[in-house]
Amino acid sequence: MSNVQTEERYDLSVVGWFSVAAVIYLVVGASVGVIAASELAWPALNFDLPYITFGRLRPLHTNTVIFAFGGCTLMGAAFYIVQRTCQTRLWSNKLAWFTFWGWNAIIVSAVITLPLGITQGKEYAELEWPIDIAIAVVWLSYFFNFVMTVVNRKTPHIYVANWFFMAMMVMITYLHVINSLVIPVGLFKSYSIFSGVQDAMVQWWYGHNAVGFFLTAGFLGIMYYFIPKQANRPIFSYRLSVLHFWALTFGYVWLGAHHLQYTALPDWTGSLAAAVSMAMIIPSWGGAVNGMMTLSGAWDKLRTDYVLRFLVVALAFYAMSTFEGPLMSVKSVNALSHYTDWTIGHVHSGALGWVVMVSVGAIYHMVTKLWKTEIYSTRLVNFHFWIHTIGIVIYICAMWVSGIMQGLMWRAYDEYGNLVYSFAESVAAMHPYYALRVVGGICVLLGAIVMLYNVIMTINKSKVKVAESSSQPATATA
Ligand code: HEM
Ligand code: HEM
Repeated sequence: MSNVQTEERYDLSVVGWFSVAAVIYLVVGASVGVIAASELAWPALNFDLPYITFGRLRPLHTNTVIFAFGGCTLMGAAFYIVQRTCQTRLWSNKLAWFTFWGWNAIIVSAVITLPLGITQGKEYAELEWPIDIAIAVVWLSYFFNFVMTVVNRKTPHIYVANWFFMAMMVMITYLHVINSLVIPVGLFKSYSIFSGVQDAMVQWWYGHNAVGFFLTAGFLGIMYYFIPKQANRPIFSYRLSVLHFWALTFGYVWLGAHHLQYTALPDWTGSLAAAVSMAMIIPSWGGAVNGMMTLSGAWDKLRTDYVLRFLVVALAFYAMSTFEGPLMSVKSVNALSHYTDWTIGHVHSGALGWVVMVSVGAIYHMVTKLWKTEIYSTRLVNFHFWIHTIGIVIYICAMWVSGIMQGLMWRAYDEYGNLVYSFAESVAAMHPYYALRVVGGICVLLGAIVMLYNVIMTINKSKVKVAESSSQPATATA
């Protein structure tokens, strides 16, 4: 990858490495997802090996897709966008490489420790304390470099995408540090300083904001840069994007308690979280409409522009999951959806529909710009688009049906007040939907593998072009 066609004005090699690493991690994370999904459908597939039981593969899956794939995409895209929108190089290219290698070392340590069962047992914050300290250091290196690049900008204005990135960086630092406060009792064992209901509340304040700031705000930064770029038009309403930013930043932090309805938490905290969750539909849809309207007058581009297609469908899924989420936070709906696969359906409509699609669009765009060449195969990108879309639809429909069915089976009483179904009966009823999810997952995985192939071939094509042009006699190139 050393031949990233580095423009003299910018530091782009590190962006290229982050982008390729992201695609590799998407393939790995989706593969682990497919294996985990297969184990839920056919439990014998864990072959009684503790390292690959569902309980250990699940955090490996979430850590790989969120922090390895999502993290590399966010870091690469943020370094790319900040240089272009601030018209300046990175404050420190060396520090950016430190971030790259540091982040990858953390991912490797997660891949080793999670299958060994070394975990803090907190969702999305499973890694043990030495790795947590490393995360804080590497994350701050990313944050500091980004902010210093903004400070050194040659433009009078800070483009809105950079605001979204900075909000993510501030909040993730804060959330990670607070939720990781533990008392170590060994190199790989520690206990949280919080306990009982406080522990639950801090954990879900962290958990929800990991969704709100890592999986949403950061990717909105990506959306606000790449949609106008790809459509070659200014953002529909800059004022609306600023409103979107402030409403999202102030709103999201109140939502954590909607993960803990009907628990030992004071009832009013759940009501407050549900009310603010409902209010979040307004800025979220405002942002989605803003992105979509940027295409007004250029909708025909969707017929031929595969990257734009990924970005626009991502927005549709963003709108869908930010409507579904608030609905699920309402207590009466949550009473049905909580603990069921409906939550898993919601998660993957947000994750596969919004996060992956917006990332994939951005990565295809960046790869062609970084290596200054056309994509190796447009047909393969189109194939990726369709197989990914089909995969998501299969996955989330299966989870919605199975989730609502689970919820209804668990609350079905007969005339004497006894449960109609045993838990085991509800598990058996899920089987066809779990098998269907595996099919959806395989489609997504296939799309990711095709993308990796296409990206590698694009880079190779660019290398050949560079070699050919450098072997031309000077007069021929002049
Ligand atoms: C091939 C694609 C994928 C498959 C087959 C898959 C499968 C799964 C499975 C089986 C689970 C566990 C569900 C359960 O505990 O009942 C899960 C959980 C999860 N996955 Fe995926 N996944 C895929 C892609 C992704 C991607 C790309 C992301 C994020 C960008 C993601 C994020 C998550 C999250 C956050 C959870 C935890 C959900 C929760 O706790 O409610 N997945 N996935
Ligand atoms: C306004 C926006 C949103 C709201 C109000 C919201 C609300 C909710 C609610 C109520 C739950 C279920 C909590 C439970 O019963 O345990 C949930 C789960 C979840 N949502 Fe959303 N959601 C929103 C957008 C999104 C988006 C865009 C994503 C993107 C990936 C996402 C990812 C998740 C994840 C990963 C979980 C599972 C957490 C877990 O239990 O492990 N959400 N959300």
